[in-house]
Amino acid sequence: MVEVEKYREHFLKYMNEKVDLKEPKNLYEPILYILNLGGKRLRPILTLLATDAFEGDVEKALDAALAIEIFHNFSLVHDDIMDDAPLRRGKDTVHEKWDINTGILSGDAMLINAYQLFENYDSDTFKQLAQLFTKTAIEVCEGQQYDVDYEESDLVSIPEYLQMIKYKTAVLVGAALQMGAIIANASKKDEQLIYDFGCNLGLAFQLQDDYLDVFGNPETFGKQIGGDIIENKKTFLYLKSLELLDQDESEQLKHLYSISPLNPAQKIETVRGLFVKSGAAGLAKQEIEKYTSTALKHLQDLEMKPEKKQRFTTFANDLMTRNV
Ligand code: IPE
Ligand code: IPE
Ligand code: MG
Ligand code: MG
Ligand code: MG
Repeated sequence: MVEVEKYREHFLKYMNEKVDLKEPKNLYEPILYILNLGGKRLRPILTLLATDAFEGDVEKALDAALAIEIFHNFSLVHDDIMDDAPLRRGKDTVHEKWDINTGILSGDAMLINAYQLFENYDSDTFKQLAQLFTKTAIEVCEGQQYDVDYEESDLVSIPEYLQMIKYKTAVLVGAALQMGAIIANASKKDEQLIYDFGCNLGLAFQLQDDYLDVFGNPETFGKQIGGDIIENKKTFLYLKSLELLDQDESEQLKHLYSISPLNPAQKIETVRGLFVKSGAAGLAKQEIEKYTSTALKHLQDLEMKPEKKQRFTTFANDLMTRNV
């Protein structure tokens, strides 16, 4: 979609002007590194698209979009430490390239930086954006804690998994869109509708991230394939497989998720086979479609020009076919 490309470029130009290398270098270099490593820039694009769709001034949305993208990248730096991940966007993660302490502090500075960007708004807008941001950021922490807790738990249910991914991922997508609506002075009803669209899109997005983590192409995905299996992440694929497999295979899968072999290649291969054999892989695809179509339903009642609404539909449908 041309608008998406246009907003991506617009956003990147703004980010490059705003984020620069300061002293001490060891604090700021990793920040520039992660921000310039690429990435799809989905969340800031959504903020800009939403401001425009609600007939607001896109220039005014750039600081909020940047705050969202910096926060997202902060969460990735800390997430990669927590997940012991070696690769991000096809390159070394920050804690691999530097060390864990660097990842912690540079991440902290990014979080604070994100907050700081809201200071550029008038007091009424500032209050609304900061409130939404604070609520969202604390939910992301809660989601991340559940994600880690579930690695060690045998009692995770699919509703619990869905709640966990809602918090760690979906609410930020919702907030990115709602911020665009706030900046454009949309009605409260429209703010809620676009937020709900984003949350459901975010659920579909994380389900797909979990799918690609197992079945993605290592050349394009940019992260270690099988990373979630190595870390015993209780994803939809795992939980659904346990429901569907016979007793023996279900026990085998549980056993594999209780060990951490030095060379995980065999474990990954066997688990991948069980996810396919159980039918969970196919069902995950259906689930992604289901949340995408729920997301699209929230667009129906929006007060918005049809051609602008259509952009969100195209965006959501394009996300379903992503492989990065
Ligand atoms: C990665 O998000 C973290 C998840 C919530 C799955 P993205 O897939 O949007 O990451 P980048 O910014 O495009 O690399
Ligand atoms: C990421 O979830 C959620 C946040 C960073 C808040 P994942 O751990 O699945 O993300 P990736 O796969 O490392 O990008
Ligand atoms: Mg991770
Ligand atoms: Mg994680
Ligand atoms: Mg993942």
